[in-house]
Amino acid sequence: MSSQPLSPQDAAKKHAAEAAIPYIEEGSIVGVGTGSTVNFFIDALAKVKFDLEGAVSSSEESTKRLKALGIPVYDLNGVPEVTVYVDGADEINRHLQMIKGGGGALTREKIVAAVAKTFICIADKSKYTLKLGDFPLPIEVIPMARSYVARELVRLGGDPVYREDFITDNGNIILDIHHLDILEPIKLEEAINNITGVVTNGLFAARSADIALLSDGHTIETLTR
Ligand code: 5RP
Repeated sequence: MSSQPLSPQDAAKKHAAEAAIPYIEEGSIVGVGTGSTVNFFIDALAKVKFDLEGAVSSSEESTKRLKALGIPVYDLNGVPEVTVYVDGADEINRHLQMIKGGGGALTREKIVAAVAKTFICIADKSKYTLKLGDFPLPIEVIPMARSYVARELVRLGGDPVYREDFITDNGNIILDIHHLDILEPIKLEEAINNITGVVTNGLFAARSADIALLSDGHTIETLTR
């Protein structure tokens, strides 16, 4: 059975994903993010020759894929430490601050990232940007607070768009905020978190990545903080 050739962007995602494998320690429990780049990472993880104890997962989707490939998935509450967390990004800047949540898994991603000692971002090079904000910022919101949170986000200068027909793994909704002027990512992350009804926002600035592996399909650029 022949498989379709990958698009140049998917080839770059796969290349970045495979570059993360040498960072995974034998016998460890690895934190696994969500998205198409991470799917390539999960596929690569299933092929490693060393003993991997298992994974903690940031979404139902990744959990399903990990289990289907025979990788045990643990409850984060029962895991003493996560040495490495590997996840993609929708945008990443030179400080390794990111916008994430295009796939709607931002809350669990932020939790696993908070626990992990080292956060490795894997991405194709198109995700690199000098200034975050071209990608609409996803915000997970308690459903009954949707209109209130949207009005508050307008006050912060954004244009909120309700993500239709989408419920997060935690039973909440997503507002995607367009046209935000993200001059100070850490301050904006904090300000949005302070709006009552917001569960999480997709700015990963206070806890940025520690290492970014960016691929153009041929070479890996490694960025560190
Ligand atoms: C999901 C995410 C993903 O990491 C982000 O959307 C990037 O996805 P992809 O690897 O498919 O480009 O934050 O919530």
